[in-house]
Parts: sequence; structure tokens; C-alpha cells
Amino acid sequence: MCGIVGYVGSREATPVLMNGLKRLEYRGYDSAGIAILHEGKIKMVKTKGRLAALEGKLNSVDLKGHMGIGHTRWATHGEPSDANSHPHVSSGGKIAVVHNGILENYIKLKDFLISRGYNFQSETDTEVVANLIDYNYRDDLVKAVIETLNEMEGAYALGVICTDCPDEFVAARKDSPLIVGLGKDENYIASDIPAILEYTKNVIILEDREVVRISAGRAEIFNLLGERVYREVFHVDWDVASAEKGGYEHFMMKEICEEPAVVKAAISPRIRDGQILFENFSLTDEMVRSCEKINIVACGTAYHAGVVGKYAIERLVRISVEADLASEFRYRDPMVDKKQITIIISQSGETLDTLMALREARKKGSHVVSIVNVVGSSIARESDDVLYTFAGPEIAVASTKAYNAQLTVLYLLALKFGQIRGTVNDEDIRYYLDQLMGLPGNMEEILRDKKEIQRFAAGHYNAGSIFFIGRNIDYALSMEGSLKLKEISYIHSEAYAGGELKHGTIALVENGTLVICPMTQDLLFEKMVSNIREVKARGAVVLAITSRKHAPEAEKAADAVIAIPDIDPLIAPVTAVIPLQLFAYYMSVMKGNDVDKPRNIAKSVTVE
Ligand code: G6P
Repeated sequence: MCGIVGYVGSREATPVLMNGLKRLEYRGYDSAGIAILHEGKIKMVKTKGRLAALEGKLNSVDLKGHMGIGHTRWATHGEPSDANSHPHVSSGGKIAVVHNGILENYIKLKDFLISRGYNFQSETDTEVVANLIDYNYRDDLVKAVIETLNEMEGAYALGVICTDCPDEFVAARKDSPLIVGLGKDENYIASDIPAILEYTKNVIILEDREVVRISAGRAEIFNLLGERVYREVFHVDWDVASAEKGGYEHFMMKEICEEPAVVKAAISPRIRDGQILFENFSLTDEMVRSCEKINIVACGTAYHAGVVGKYAIERLVRISVEADLASEFRYRDPMVDKKQITIIISQSGETLDTLMALREARKKGSHVVSIVNVVGSSIARESDDVLYTFAGPEIAVASTKAYNAQLTVLYLLALKFGQIRGTVNDEDIRYYLDQLMGLPGNMEEILRDKKEIQRFAAGHYNAGSIFFIGRNIDYALSMEGSLKLKEISYIHSEAYAGGELKHGTIALVENGTLVICPMTQDLLFEKMVSNIREVKARGAVVLAITSRKHAPEAEKAADAVIAIPDIDPLIAPVTAVIPLQLFAYYMSVMKGNDVDKPRNIAKSVTVE
């Protein structure tokens, strides 16, 4: 949510900032802008809408200069409009600011600034930051920013330029991500690594409440007391191609097609001599043995992976597992203590609700193991242990490959915990590792048959409402199928547990209603067949997704069947989710939607 870039060096800043903003489009935004400092003046171009609109405006403006800041905004305070777009400039034109996050005490600060003669052009909280820095400024920008931050309540990542400082700018962060990219005689800031990957792979990940002064030759970091602090330089091993479409029409399709490789990458480094190894794990066997309950906390797709994880861990470890939405968990004073392990799942590692849930769990003494994709992200850094998903950058807003990777890591974790607690024996380990290692091949097979799903989508993209019905693990999978469809096709959809159908949803089924039924759980197959018959009796059109061995039976009940390779039902979501992701993808394409950047939603949700 909101993307920030900043540059200082010998290149023209505008194209560097525009390139960076394009790489951050995935975060979700509804307006954009850049500000360049040149010959002592701040020049700014900003607009409501996509980057193409900003590029259009830039064509008619001369925005030369070697230092600047850029922003994509996802509206929180004030509608998406030219005036509310960032950057925001202080009343006298001295300071320009881009901001990601929410300033909670901005009304009080705004009233104060108005009483001191400042005027405001926008409805945003960010304009308050620009004016407050100006108010605190004497002759030292770092000092003015620190004073301002000490008066601010809320979350922020900031980029600040000042007409008195032609060769340097200042950035800062708290609870919103920000990295510093180190080049040769040029430096950068960005909300995320892909924005600067084509220029440098050396980055510093700022900690909360840190301020950095950046010139072409150096990056000096300070804490909020104004003391120098020193941070390690990280070398990123993602290649530039991983953040590009590579011949695919959309990032989403590219990322779905990467899933077999992603699953392999999540397993391979963790298996040695037939055993599961988690390197540098501080969680001891004793802690696993004495654990009384496991909490899994996440948002969105990561939460749906967590619900599958609940089924898998309960089955393999025979321990009670609660899967909860981070936004619910953090505000319900959860019954967490040091006898419990909390698993936090997040692709970005920056989702604010998930981060706050992590802090809540740790505050209550729980050991936190996180499953995260983005290396060095806030959630990764604040966890007791991290298991990276190694999925590479996920750019499409709708999460796909991260889900498979999260599931894979959850299965490994469940097996490891089961082994430690004696609920899983060596033979089980061999069997499941064999099954898991067979996944990439099975996934490739499903991906080779994409056409079938495309054809089915072509016949249904005008549907007004689509239901997903599943039981047990297939219910968890249905939730993800339904979310994917909603996110990118904008079709109303709901996921229901098969057993709940008669308690309400069936009233909504009428002639032509499309119902999608994942049915990968052998023990519940017959029950799902009954559900299909019930909805078909009310006129529904049913698509079943099931294993090859069940396909002939399913064909007798459903209108269409997608058959996937036979694998153990416990790990079936890793393969069975692919037809659901492809279905959502094709529905979105056929409706002419912006598949990778759906309306209103953001990839990295850094506000509540
Ligand atoms: C947003 C994204 C989803 C994602 C969720 C959690 O809603 O649009 O795709 O699943 O955030 O994000 P995380 O980065 O914590 O996995």
C-alpha cells in the first residue's frame, strides 16, 4: 500500500523514480507523483490515476534534476485526487514529503500549524508532516525530521527533500517498510526491493524509528535521539528477471506457472538424508514437546494457507490449533501464553495487522515462528524464528505462488513437530516427503491442461454470483478459490462448508447458479457428491475438482470435472488450488479487468 522511491546521484532522477514506481505498482495505488529538487527549487508533477497518467503529464513538463522523491498513493485520508496525491509541499515551498502510513494525531497537529499561519491544500495527513518539518526546521533537516517524528503518532515511511539541501535528502520509517539502496556514487530509497533491483542489490533495511540522511556518496543512519547507528548491508540475490513478466501477459500467470519451482525451492534446502532440517532454529525440541496449543495468525491468502495448516498440524501432531485473522486476534486479548507456539504467515512480511498480532503474541510470552517471503521484512526481523518461503518476488496483487510455498512450509513444520512429539514415525516421514517431492511434477501436469479451465471460464464469466463448497481441507481451499475470484474478477462469491449448505446458502441456489466444488478428501467424497446432488436439484451448474481416481464418479454428478493427479488428500490443496487460481485468472481476463492490479486492493497492507 503506497509506494515510495527516492534517488540521488548523477543520473536524471525522473526516469529512475518512474521505473521504481512501476516496480511498486503491485502494492496498489490510485494516484501518483514525483518531486525533483533542481537549482534550489522543488518541481512537482502529480495526478490521480495510474502511472500512465503521470507519464502523460510529465511529457509536457521539464523535470530535470539529479535528486527526487516519488510516490504511488492508496487513498486513506481524502479521496484519490490530484490535490491529495503525494508529494506534499510545505506552505512556503521549502519542504516536500512522500509518506506511507497513517498519522493518527494529525488533526491536533494541523490545528496547531493553522494557528501558526500554515495553510493546507489537501485533506491528507501527509501535508501536516511537510508543514511540521518546515515549522521545526532551522538549518538541519535531519534534526527537523527527528523533532517532527517525535511529535507524530502512527505509522510512517517518509522521504523528505528540502530546498536548502541540494545534494541530500532524508528518509525515515516506523511500522511501514523502507529500504535504502546503495549504488556507486548514487543512492536510493524504496518501499520494497524490486523498485531498485535494476540499479543495485546492496540494501540496508531500516529499523523502526530510524532516520537516514542520503547523499550520492553516503547514507548515515540516526535514531530518534539523533545518535548515529550502523546497520549491516544486505546483498539481495533476487535477479532482475524475477521481477519482470518474462513473456507472460500478466505477472499473475507467470507466478502461477512458477509454482512447481517454488514448491521445490521451499522443500529442497530443508531435506537432508531423509530428515527435515530447519537451520538456525531457536525453537527447541523441548519447547515443541511441552507446547499446549498452536496459534496460526495471518491475513488474506496467508490466512487461508493457515487454515489448511490447522488441519495438517492437528492431524499430524495431535495438538489443538487455532487459525485466526490477524485483525481479529490482535484486538480480542487472545488467551496466549508461553506454553503456546504462534505461527505467523505473511508473504510481504509487512502487513500491519499481522505484525501487530505478532507483537501481541510475543508480549504474552509465546514463541513466534514466522513463514515469510520477503527477506529482512518487519515480521521476519521481529520473529523468534523465520522460515522463508523462497518464492521470489510476488508482483501480482492476487497472491498465488506464495500460497503454495506457505502450504509446503506448513507441511514440513507439521511433520517436524509430529516427529518431535512422536505422533509421526520414520515411515510417515518417508511417505510424506515422497508425496511432497512429487508435487512439482503433478503441478506441471495441471498447468499443461490450462485450456480446459479457460474454456470453462469462457462459458461463465458473466455469472453474477459463484459459490465454492468444500469439506474439511477442501473448505479451507474453497475460501482461497473464492477470494481469488472476488479479488480479480469482481464477481460476488462465497465459500461454504458442505455441511453448512442446508443451514442457509442453499436458499440462494437457483437455475443457473454456478457452484464450484473441490473434492479432494477421500473420506468425504461421498458427502460432497450428496451436496452436488442437492444443489443440482435446485438448478445449479456444478464444476467439480477432484483426483483422477474419483473423476468417473464425480462426472456422474457434476456438469464438468477437472481431474488432478492422485496424491495424498492432506497435501492436495497445493495442486488443487491451481485450477481455482487459473479459473479466477481467466474470468478476470475475459471481463477485461486489470488482472495484476485489481481495483481497490493493495498487495502490501501497511495500514489497519
Ligand atoms: C493483501 C493482499 C493479499 C494478501 C494479504 C496478506 O490483502 O492483497 O494478497 O494475502 O494482504 O498479505 P501478506 O503479505 O501478509 O501475506
